[in-house]
Amino acid sequence: MSWTTKPSATTKIARRAEPYCTAAMMSRWTSELLPRYATKHAALLPILHDLQHEYRHISYQAMIEVAAFLSIKPADVMDTVTFYEEFSTEPLGKCVIGICQSIACEVCGHKKLQDHVSARLGIKPHETTADGKFTLLALECLGSCDTAPVALFNETLHENLTIANIDALIDEAAKGGGGH
Ligand code: FES
Repeated sequence: MSWTTKPSATTKIARRAEPYCTAAMMSRWTSELLPRYATKHAALLPILHDLQHEYRHISYQAMIEVAAFLSIKPADVMDTVTFYEEFSTEPLGKCVIGICQSIACEVCGHKKLQDHVSARLGIKPHETTADGKFTLLALECLGSCDTAPVALFNETLHENLTIANIDALIDEAAKGGGGH
């Protein structure tokens, strides 16, 4: 993902009646997170992780709600959301496959893996299948260059990948198994 620009003056922000930052979440952030930091702004990242985990994305409405909770500008929240690969403004699939595309994995055949997963799932990198089951991401170095090529299935790193074992991981994920 990269810095995102949008025509702020004309973009309509989709809103739902129910807030993304629930009373229970805000109560927990107030009692558990805020006391750990010198400023409220510093709690932004863990709060965004909570929201991403809960909703599989961080909507513009959620960014506005977080900004109000932390007394910071919505633009500061959006800057952070669009800077980090961990966060998405669009809902991600239940299983997020992030194939490393940096140099060691590139040399060890990441493209073959990526093309195979793309063809199998019918999506390009940074797209989600229509059934919401899978998202394919192209990630930068995952810090495991000596076991390239590697990929994350949600939060689990898989190393020395081949087409056969990435297929097995997708099969397991499709069944709702614990291979990710
Ligand atoms: S280049 Fe892929 S883990 Fe470092």
